[in-house]
Amino acid sequence: MRVVTSRAELDAALGGRRKVERVSLVPTMGALHEGHEALLTAAGQASEVVVASIFVNPLQFGPGEDLAAYPRTLAADLERCAANGVEVVFAPDVGTVYPGGEPQVSVDPGPLAAELEGASRPGHFRGVLTVVVKLLGLVRPDLAAFGTKDYQQLTLVRRCVNDLCLPVRILGVETVRAVDGLALSSRNRYLSDSERRAAVALSRALASGRRIGAAGREAVLAAATAVLRATPEVHLDYLELRGLDLGAAPATGEARLLVAARVGSTRLIDNTAVVLGSEDETTKRMVT
Ligand code: PAJ
Repeated sequence: MRVVTSRAELDAALGGRRKVERVSLVPTMGALHEGHEALLTAAGQASEVVVASIFVNPLQFGPGEDLAAYPRTLAADLERCAANGVEVVFAPDVGTVYPGGEPQVSVDPGPLAAELEGASRPGHFRGVLTVVVKLLGLVRPDLAAFGTKDYQQLTLVRRCVNDLCLPVRILGVETVRAVDGLALSSRNRYLSDSERRAAVALSRALASGRRIGAAGREAVLAAATAVLRATPEVHLDYLELRGLDLGAAPATGEARLLVAARVGSTRLIDNTAVVLGSEDETTKRMVT
């Protein structure tokens, strides 16, 4: 018999007897594009069986949001899944996921859910985490893949799995972009041609902030703001520099620059990694 006290020891004690990463889950709301495909590929490389779920989750949409209009393209989605080696597509109806209507017990996403996306979408992350926990319970995967494109969602899913000790590994997958830099999104199809051209300002703003990271926080925000201001079709919701866990941004080191804006009636989000330096430190290094 062994007595273990840490999570690492527990994993090591069970590891030999457990087949790791057999089943992976890629949760989606459908209208699949190359961004979703990157998740399917990453999941396929890390596990034997890939399950994709396609479910437009009413619980994560606010009253004035696009639940009814959200694109539903099941036939094309199934083709993409088949072409990407998905073994099982789980495409339940609302009654299967919420048999008794809205659940009485749901996941409290904590204080981070009231910030950034949550500030303009109250209840959104409660809905996201509740459906993610339900999908994890239904599919019981060893691994689940999420996109860095929705950085706050990925952060909260990781926190949920960690805080609730859910037995699943979360895999974060880099954002897939169009050639001009726009992050792929199911909502991009709402954009008119001129809105589509304006929307590229989001990724350009992030890129110019990222480039100037060595100059410090103020410079990053100023550079990104300048790009956004130059495109009047882009109505900024927030541009924020945060730490990797979405707490306050450090003065130096790794951080995340996040943006949300409305273009026409479409709300778009994007984010990028930034490595912050400080002018002080650069000067010090040059002097010594
Ligand atoms: P959906 O918007 O369909 O996104 C499904 C997954 O694809 C998410 O993990 C998202 O981050 C990822 N994704 C979207 N665009 C991407 C891109 N350009 N590059 C890489 N990954 C991308 O996010 C949701 O659905 C829902 O909230 C869900 C988690 C399914 C819960 O309902």
